[in-house]
Amino acid sequence: MSASTHTSVYRNDLLAGKVAFITGGGSGICKGIARAFMSHGASTAIVGRKADRLQAAAAELSDETGQRCLAVPADVRQPETIEAALAKTIEEYGSLDVVVNGAAGNFLAPAAGLSYNGFATVIGIDTLGTFNVCRAAFDAGLRDNGGVIINISATLHYGAQPMQTHASAAKAAVDSITRSLALEWGQFGIRVNGIAPGPIAETEGMKRLAPAEEVTKKLERAIAIGRFGRIDEIANVALFLASDAASLVHGETVVADGGAWLGPANIEF
Ligand code: HXC
Ligand code: NAP
Repeated sequence: MSASTHTSVYRNDLLAGKVAFITGGGSGICKGIARAFMSHGASTAIVGRKADRLQAAAAELSDETGQRCLAVPADVRQPETIEAALAKTIEEYGSLDVVVNGAAGNFLAPAAGLSYNGFATVIGIDTLGTFNVCRAAFDAGLRDNGGVIINISATLHYGAQPMQTHASAAKAAVDSITRSLALEWGQFGIRVNGIAPGPIAETEGMKRLAPAEEVTKKLERAIAIGRFGRIDEIANVALFLASDAASLVHGETVVADGGAWLGPANIEF
Protein backbone atom coordinates (compact mmCIF):
# COMPACT_ATOMS: atom_id res chain seq x y z
CA MET A 1 0.00 0.00 0.00
CA SER A 2 1.50 3.36 -0.95
CA ALA A 3 0.26 6.85 -0.15
CA SER A 4 -0.91 7.32 -3.74
CA THR A 5 -2.85 4.06 -4.02
CA HIS A 6 -4.23 4.12 -0.49
CA THR A 7 -8.01 3.88 -0.28
CA SER A 8 -9.85 4.28 2.98
CA VAL A 9 -13.39 4.57 4.26
CA TYR A 10 -12.11 7.68 6.08
CA ARG A 11 -11.17 11.09 4.70
CA ASN A 12 -7.47 11.04 3.82
CA ASP A 13 -6.78 14.14 5.96
CA LEU A 14 -8.62 12.74 9.02
CA LEU A 15 -5.53 13.12 11.26
CA ALA A 16 -3.69 15.84 9.35
CA GLY A 17 -1.18 17.66 11.57
CA LYS A 18 -1.65 15.26 14.50
CA VAL A 19 1.26 13.62 16.33
CA ALA A 20 0.85 10.06 17.61
CA PHE A 21 3.13 8.23 20.07
CA ILE A 22 2.65 4.49 19.58
CA THR A 23 4.20 1.84 21.83
CA GLY A 24 4.63 -1.49 20.09
CA GLY A 25 4.57 0.46 16.80
CA GLY A 26 7.56 -1.42 15.38
CA SER A 27 5.58 -4.58 14.66
CA GLY A 28 2.21 -6.26 14.22
CA ILE A 29 -1.05 -4.55 15.07
CA CYS A 30 0.49 -1.29 16.27
CA LYS A 31 2.70 -0.96 13.21
CA GLY A 32 -0.57 -1.25 11.29
CA ILE A 33 -2.05 1.50 13.46
CA ALA A 34 1.00 3.70 12.77
CA ARG A 35 0.62 3.03 9.03
CA ALA A 36 -3.09 3.95 9.11
CA PHE A 37 -2.52 7.11 11.15
CA MET A 38 0.25 8.22 8.77
CA SER A 39 -1.88 7.41 5.72
CA HIS A 40 -4.41 9.85 7.16
CA GLY A 41 -1.96 12.71 7.69
CA ALA A 42 -0.41 12.09 11.13
CA SER A 43 3.25 12.06 12.10
CA THR A 44 4.21 9.21 14.42
CA ALA A 45 6.77 8.16 16.98
CA ILE A 46 7.04 4.40 17.35
CA VAL A 47 8.37 2.81 20.53
CA GLY A 48 9.87 -0.58 21.35
CA ARG A 49 13.01 -2.11 22.81
CA LYS A 50 14.60 -3.33 19.57
CA ALA A 51 16.19 -0.24 17.99
CA ASP A 52 17.08 -1.93 14.67
CA ARG A 53 13.60 -3.25 14.00
CA LEU A 54 12.12 0.09 15.02
CA GLN A 55 14.39 2.01 12.62
CA ALA A 56 13.52 -0.34 9.76
CA ALA A 57 9.79 -0.01 10.47
CA ALA A 58 10.02 3.80 10.65
CA ALA A 59 11.81 3.97 7.29
CA GLU A 60 9.30 1.58 5.69
CA LEU A 61 6.27 3.49 7.01
CA SER A 62 7.66 6.86 5.93
CA ASP A 63 8.40 5.53 2.44
CA GLU A 64 4.89 4.10 2.13
CA THR A 65 2.96 7.07 3.39
CA GLY A 66 5.15 10.13 2.81
CA GLN A 67 4.71 11.12 6.47
CA ARG A 68 7.31 11.39 9.21
CA CYS A 69 7.94 8.48 11.58
CA LEU A 70 10.43 8.71 14.42
CA ALA A 71 11.92 5.53 15.95
CA VAL A 72 12.32 6.06 19.70
CA PRO A 73 13.67 3.00 21.54
CA ALA A 74 12.40 2.69 25.12
CA ASP A 75 11.17 0.09 27.59
CA VAL A 76 7.68 0.81 28.91
CA ARG A 77 8.73 -0.78 32.24
CA GLN A 78 11.30 1.99 32.72
CA PRO A 79 9.49 5.32 33.10
CA GLU A 80 12.63 7.38 32.59
CA THR A 81 13.13 5.85 29.11
CA ILE A 82 9.51 6.73 28.25
CA GLU A 83 9.94 10.27 29.52
CA ALA A 84 13.00 10.60 27.27
CA ALA A 85 11.13 9.15 24.28
CA LEU A 86 8.23 11.56 24.80
CA ALA A 87 10.63 14.51 25.14
CA LYS A 88 12.34 13.52 21.88
CA THR A 89 8.97 13.22 20.13
CA ILE A 90 7.83 16.66 21.27
CA GLU A 91 11.23 18.17 20.42
CA GLU A 92 10.93 16.71 16.90
CA TYR A 93 7.27 17.50 16.21
CA GLY A 94 6.38 20.28 18.66
CA SER A 95 3.24 18.60 20.01
CA LEU A 96 1.60 15.39 21.19
CA ASP A 97 -2.00 14.49 20.31
CA VAL A 98 -2.54 10.74 20.42
CA VAL A 99 -0.98 8.02 22.58
CA VAL A 100 -1.46 4.35 21.71
CA ASN A 101 -0.44 1.78 24.31
CA GLY A 102 0.20 -1.40 22.35
CA ALA A 103 3.38 -2.75 23.93
CA ALA A 104 2.65 -6.19 25.37
CA GLY A 105 4.19 -9.55 26.12
CA ASN A 106 2.54 -12.94 26.09
CA PHE A 107 3.16 -16.68 25.89
CA LEU A 108 1.19 -19.82 26.61
CA ALA A 109 1.82 -21.13 30.12
CA PRO A 110 -0.41 -23.06 32.53
CA ALA A 111 -0.73 -21.29 35.90
CA ALA A 112 0.70 -24.38 37.62
CA GLY A 113 3.94 -23.96 35.66
CA LEU A 114 4.10 -20.18 35.44
CA SER A 115 7.01 -18.73 37.42
CA TYR A 116 6.52 -15.75 39.72
CA ASN A 117 8.68 -13.71 37.40
CA GLY A 118 6.78 -14.88 34.30
CA PHE A 119 3.52 -13.50 35.71
CA ALA A 120 5.23 -10.32 36.90
CA THR A 121 6.88 -9.77 33.51
CA VAL A 122 3.59 -9.70 31.59
CA ILE A 123 1.93 -7.50 34.22
CA GLY A 124 5.02 -5.28 34.05
CA ILE A 125 4.86 -4.75 30.29
CA ASP A 126 1.08 -4.64 29.73
CA THR A 127 -0.29 -3.08 32.91
CA LEU A 128 2.52 -1.08 34.50
CA GLY A 129 3.75 -0.14 31.03
CA THR A 130 0.34 1.24 30.06
CA PHE A 131 0.12 3.29 33.26
CA ASN A 132 3.73 4.51 32.93
CA VAL A 133 3.16 5.77 29.39
CA CYS A 134 -0.19 7.42 30.21
CA ARG A 135 1.28 9.11 33.27
CA ALA A 136 4.40 10.34 31.48
CA ALA A 137 2.34 11.58 28.50
CA PHE A 138 0.05 13.47 30.87
CA ASP A 139 3.02 15.44 32.21
CA ALA A 140 4.66 15.75 28.80
CA GLY A 141 1.74 17.59 27.21
CA LEU A 142 -1.69 15.98 27.49
CA ARG A 143 -2.53 17.79 30.74
CA ASP A 144 -2.04 21.20 29.13
CA ASN A 145 -3.23 20.51 25.59
CA GLY A 146 -5.63 17.56 25.83
CA GLY A 147 -5.47 14.60 23.47
CA VAL A 148 -6.49 11.01 22.95
CA ILE A 149 -5.27 7.82 24.64
CA ILE A 150 -6.01 4.40 23.15
CA ASN A 151 -5.09 1.33 25.20
CA ILE A 152 -4.84 -1.96 23.32
CA SER A 153 -6.50 -4.66 25.36
CA ALA A 154 -7.97 -8.13 24.59
CA THR A 155 -11.11 -10.15 25.35
CA LEU A 156 -9.33 -12.97 27.21
CA HIS A 157 -10.55 -11.81 30.62
CA TYR A 158 -14.26 -11.50 29.75
CA GLY A 159 -14.41 -15.18 30.57
CA ALA A 160 -11.25 -17.19 31.13
CA GLN A 161 -8.73 -18.85 28.83
CA PRO A 162 -6.43 -21.76 29.65
CA MET A 163 -2.73 -20.87 29.87
CA GLN A 164 -3.49 -17.15 29.91
CA THR A 165 -3.72 -16.24 33.63
CA HIS A 166 -0.97 -13.63 33.23
CA ALA A 167 -2.25 -11.93 30.05
CA SER A 168 -5.87 -12.03 31.21
CA ALA A 169 -5.02 -10.35 34.52
CA ALA A 170 -2.85 -7.80 32.74
CA LYS A 171 -5.51 -6.80 30.23
CA ALA A 172 -8.29 -6.72 32.85
CA ALA A 173 -6.19 -4.14 34.68
CA VAL A 174 -5.61 -2.21 31.45
CA ASP A 175 -9.39 -1.92 30.96
CA SER A 176 -9.68 -0.66 34.51
CA ILE A 177 -6.98 1.96 33.88
CA THR A 178 -8.89 3.06 30.76
CA ARG A 179 -12.04 3.69 32.80
CA SER A 180 -10.25 5.38 35.73
CA LEU A 181 -8.24 7.74 33.54
CA ALA A 182 -11.33 8.58 31.50
CA LEU A 183 -13.08 9.58 34.71
CA GLU A 184 -10.21 11.68 36.06
CA TRP A 185 -8.75 13.14 32.85
CA GLY A 186 -11.87 14.05 30.88
CA GLN A 187 -11.68 17.48 32.54
CA PHE A 188 -8.32 18.05 30.82
CA GLY A 189 -9.76 17.38 27.38
CA ILE A 190 -8.15 13.94 27.28
CA ARG A 191 -10.31 11.19 25.77
CA VAL A 192 -9.33 7.72 26.97
CA ASN A 193 -10.53 4.55 25.29
CA GLY A 194 -9.38 1.04 24.49
CA ILE A 195 -9.61 -1.52 21.72
CA ALA A 196 -10.04 -5.22 22.45
CA PRO A 197 -9.01 -7.17 19.36
CA GLY A 198 -9.96 -10.81 18.96
CA PRO A 199 -7.49 -13.13 17.25
CA ILE A 200 -5.70 -11.18 14.50
CA ALA A 201 -4.04 -13.02 11.60
CA GLU A 202 -0.33 -12.70 10.85
CA THR A 203 0.67 -11.32 14.23
CA GLU A 204 3.22 -12.36 16.83
CA GLY A 205 0.35 -12.74 19.28
CA MET A 206 -1.40 -15.42 17.24
CA LYS A 207 1.90 -17.12 16.31
CA ARG A 208 2.38 -17.62 20.03
CA LEU A 209 -1.19 -18.64 20.89
CA ALA A 210 -1.99 -20.78 17.84
CA PRO A 211 1.33 -21.97 16.43
CA ALA A 212 -0.09 -24.86 14.35
CA GLU A 213 -2.19 -24.47 11.19
CA GLU A 214 -4.80 -27.00 12.28
CA VAL A 215 -5.30 -25.08 15.55
CA THR A 216 -5.77 -21.86 13.59
CA LYS A 217 -8.35 -23.46 11.29
CA LYS A 218 -10.31 -24.85 14.25
CA LEU A 219 -10.25 -21.51 16.04
CA GLU A 220 -11.38 -19.68 12.89
CA ARG A 221 -14.30 -22.06 12.39
CA ALA A 222 -15.48 -21.30 15.92
CA ILE A 223 -15.65 -17.54 15.31
CA ALA A 224 -19.04 -16.11 14.28
CA ILE A 225 -17.60 -14.49 11.13
CA GLY A 226 -15.56 -17.62 10.37
CA ARG A 227 -12.13 -15.99 10.31
CA PHE A 228 -9.48 -14.15 12.28
CA GLY A 229 -9.41 -10.36 12.06
CA ARG A 230 -6.90 -8.42 9.98
CA ILE A 231 -4.47 -5.78 11.24
CA ASP A 232 -6.08 -3.09 9.07
CA GLU A 233 -9.46 -3.80 10.69
CA ILE A 234 -8.03 -2.95 14.11
CA ALA A 235 -6.31 0.11 12.62
CA ASN A 236 -9.69 1.30 11.34
CA VAL A 237 -11.08 1.21 14.89
CA ALA A 238 -8.03 3.15 16.12
CA LEU A 239 -8.60 5.77 13.41
CA PHE A 240 -12.18 6.20 14.56
CA LEU A 241 -11.20 6.54 18.23
CA ALA A 242 -8.39 8.99 17.41
CA SER A 243 -10.69 11.18 15.35
CA ASP A 244 -13.35 13.72 16.29
CA ALA A 245 -15.97 11.22 15.12
CA ALA A 246 -15.46 9.60 18.54
CA SER A 247 -15.84 12.85 20.51
CA LEU A 248 -18.44 11.34 22.85
CA VAL A 249 -16.76 7.95 23.24
CA HIS A 250 -14.90 7.98 26.55
CA GLY A 251 -13.87 5.25 28.97
CA GLU A 252 -14.96 2.56 26.52
CA THR A 253 -13.04 -0.46 25.28
CA VAL A 254 -14.30 -1.26 21.80
CA VAL A 255 -14.37 -4.96 21.01
CA ALA A 256 -13.30 -5.77 17.45
CA ASP A 257 -13.31 -9.55 17.18
CA GLY A 258 -15.94 -10.66 14.68
CA GLY A 259 -17.99 -12.01 17.58
CA ALA A 260 -15.21 -14.34 18.74
CA TRP A 261 -15.64 -13.87 22.47
CA LEU A 262 -19.41 -14.49 22.35
CA GLY A 263 -18.67 -18.21 22.27
CA PRO A 264 -18.15 -20.91 19.69
CA ALA A 265 -20.39 -20.36 16.64
CA ASN A 266 -19.94 -23.91 15.36
CA ILE A 267 -19.60 -26.86 17.66
CA GLU A 268 -18.14 -29.91 15.99
CA PHE A 269 -20.16 -32.93 17.22
C1 HXC B 1 6.71 -19.70 30.51
C2 HXC B 1 8.06 -17.86 30.20
C3 HXC B 1 7.96 -17.99 28.79
C4 HXC B 1 7.17 -19.07 28.29
C5 HXC B 1 9.21 -16.27 29.22
N1 HXC B 1 8.84 -16.80 30.40
N2 HXC B 1 8.68 -16.98 28.22
N3 HXC B 1 7.43 -18.69 31.03
N4 HXC B 1 6.56 -19.88 29.17
N5 HXC B 1 7.03 -19.27 26.96
C6 HXC B 1 9.27 -16.34 31.72
C7 HXC B 1 10.77 -16.50 31.87
O1 HXC B 1 11.13 -17.85 32.19
C8 HXC B 1 11.08 -15.52 32.98
O2 HXC B 1 10.77 -16.04 34.25
C9 HXC B 1 10.09 -14.40 32.71
O3 HXC B 1 9.05 -14.94 31.89
C10 HXC B 1 10.73 -13.24 31.99
O4 HXC B 1 11.33 -13.73 30.80
P1 HXC B 1 12.39 -12.86 29.98
O5 HXC B 1 12.68 -13.58 28.71
O6 HXC B 1 13.54 -12.49 30.87
O7 HXC B 1 11.54 -11.52 29.75
P2 HXC B 1 11.74 -10.32 28.77
O8 HXC B 1 13.09 -10.37 28.09
O9 HXC B 1 11.37 -9.12 29.52
O10 HXC B 1 10.66 -10.62 27.60
C11 HXC B 1 9.28 -10.54 27.83
C12 HXC B 1 8.54 -11.72 27.17
C13 HXC B 1 8.99 -11.89 25.69
C14 HXC B 1 7.03 -11.44 27.29
C15 HXC B 1 8.86 -12.99 27.93
O11 HXC B 1 8.34 -13.00 25.11
C16 HXC B 1 8.72 -10.64 24.87
O12 HXC B 1 9.56 -9.76 24.82
N6 HXC B 1 7.54 -10.54 24.21
C17 HXC B 1 7.17 -9.34 23.38
C18 HXC B 1 6.45 -9.78 22.14
C19 HXC B 1 5.14 -10.50 22.43
O13 HXC B 1 5.04 -11.23 23.45
N7 HXC B 1 4.17 -10.31 21.54
C20 HXC B 1 2.88 -10.91 21.69
C21 HXC B 1 1.93 -9.95 22.26
S1 HXC B 1 0.37 -10.71 21.98
P3 HXC B 1 11.90 -16.68 35.21
O14 HXC B 1 11.12 -17.13 36.42
O15 HXC B 1 12.52 -17.81 34.45
O16 HXC B 1 12.90 -15.59 35.52
C22 HXC B 1 -0.67 -10.49 23.17
C23 HXC B 1 -1.97 -11.19 22.86
C24 HXC B 1 -3.03 -10.99 23.87
O17 HXC B 1 -0.42 -9.83 24.11
C25 HXC B 1 -4.32 -11.68 23.52
C26 HXC B 1 -4.40 -12.51 22.30
C27 HXC B 1 -5.79 -13.09 22.00
P1 NAP C 1 3.71 -7.77 18.68
O1 NAP C 1 3.97 -7.52 17.23
O2 NAP C 1 4.66 -8.68 19.40
O3 NAP C 1 3.64 -6.36 19.42
C1 NAP C 1 4.11 -6.14 20.71
C2 NAP C 1 5.05 -4.96 20.64
O4 NAP C 1 5.34 -4.54 21.96
C3 NAP C 1 6.37 -5.23 19.93
O5 NAP C 1 6.58 -4.27 18.93
C4 NAP C 1 7.42 -5.09 21.04
O6 NAP C 1 8.61 -4.50 20.53
C5 NAP C 1 6.70 -4.17 22.01
N1 NAP C 1 7.15 -4.37 23.38
C6 NAP C 1 7.13 -5.52 24.09
N2 NAP C 1 7.65 -5.31 25.30
C7 NAP C 1 7.99 -3.99 25.37
C8 NAP C 1 8.57 -3.18 26.35
N3 NAP C 1 8.89 -3.68 27.55
N4 NAP C 1 8.77 -1.87 26.08
C9 NAP C 1 8.45 -1.36 24.87
N5 NAP C 1 7.90 -2.09 23.88
C10 NAP C 1 7.68 -3.39 24.12
O7 NAP C 1 2.28 -8.36 18.94
P2 NAP C 1 0.80 -8.12 18.33
O8 NAP C 1 0.22 -9.48 18.23
O9 NAP C 1 0.80 -7.23 17.17
O10 NAP C 1 0.09 -7.40 19.58
C11 NAP C 1 -0.09 -5.99 19.64
C12 NAP C 1 -1.09 -5.62 20.72
O11 NAP C 1 -2.36 -6.19 20.42
C13 NAP C 1 -0.72 -6.10 22.11
O12 NAP C 1 -1.15 -5.14 23.07
C14 NAP C 1 -1.54 -7.35 22.26
O13 NAP C 1 -1.77 -7.70 23.61
C15 NAP C 1 -2.81 -6.95 21.55
N6 NAP C 1 -3.64 -8.07 21.07
C16 NAP C 1 -3.18 -8.85 20.06
C17 NAP C 1 -3.98 -9.85 19.58
C18 NAP C 1 -3.54 -10.71 18.41
O14 NAP C 1 -4.33 -11.51 17.89
N7 NAP C 1 -2.31 -10.57 17.94
C19 NAP C 1 -5.23 -10.08 20.15
C20 NAP C 1 -5.65 -9.28 21.21
C21 NAP C 1 -4.84 -8.27 21.66
P3 NAP C 1 10.06 -4.88 21.14
O15 NAP C 1 10.14 -6.35 21.21
O16 NAP C 1 11.01 -4.21 20.18
O17 NAP C 1 10.12 -4.23 22.48
